[in-house]
Amino acid sequence: MQEGEKLSERSGTLADDPFSGRHPTSHERLTGLPWDASYHDGPAPWDIGQPQPAIVRLASEGGFAGAVLDAGCGTGENALHVASLGLSVLGVEVAETALAIAREKAGDRGIEVEFAAADAFRLERLGRRFETVLDCGLFHTFDGDERPGYVASLASVTERDGTLYVLCFSDDGPGTGPHPVSREELRAAFSPSNGWNVAAIEPDRVQTRYHDDDGAPAWFATIKRI
Ligand SMILES: C[S@@+](CC[C@H](N)C(=O)[O-])C[C@H]1O[C@@H](n2cnc3c(N)ncnc32)[C@H](O)[C@@H]1O
Repeated sequence: MQEGEKLSERSGTLADDPFSGRHPTSHERLTGLPWDASYHDGPAPWDIGQPQPAIVRLASEGGFAGAVLDAGCGTGENALHVASLGLSVLGVEVAETALAIAREKAGDRGIEVEFAAADAFRLERLGRRFETVLDCGLFHTFDGDERPGYVASLASVTERDGTLYVLCFSDDGPGTGPHPVSREELRAAFSPSNGWNVAAIEPDRVQTRYHDDDGAPAWFATIKRI
């Protein structure tokens, strides 16, 4: 999509409604572009072409069990990594371009994994439940007023006693990424009142294409469904 080109002016490669009937997220309203546009001109800033080191470490420690959902899977590196270990993984996205890239990688690498278009605010429509849910870089894109709906959607597909992992930019600088989140915000979003227990929030790092090798400060939250 060219600079300055508005969603309403675009026709052809995107469907007439680039949001496929869903409500645009705060990020999309801010930028004036659907998430899919992030994938049109080469890799997106977060698309590092490999799984996040924090997710590789988690997987090596046996953090993934049962059916796994990767919410906002992008071009699929984390989902592909977990699936390559033999787990059943579904990655969901609103960006069809990212899904196409993810499916192509899966084919090229011979990894059995599922990628599907789905809105993270409407996960109950999947009609499935997962023992492990991964959010790598999605939660932090949502404004405070979007979080309750997203968290309820996550709850609708997470098995009781299942585990949600959230890797997000933290506000514990220096070098914070966009949309940094505080520990308090994570604790406010996930609580027993809405079906969750925060088991741990640990400092970690998120790699991006624009930070140096050490990446940006992050929180790695382990959250249990009750
Ligand atoms: C910062 S990127 C992270 C992508 C991927 N998890 C990674 O680590 O590379 C956030 C992703 O969430 C997707 N996304 C945003 N809103 C979504 C929604 N409502 N439902 C599903 N995916 C969404 C975006 O298209 C984007 O690919």
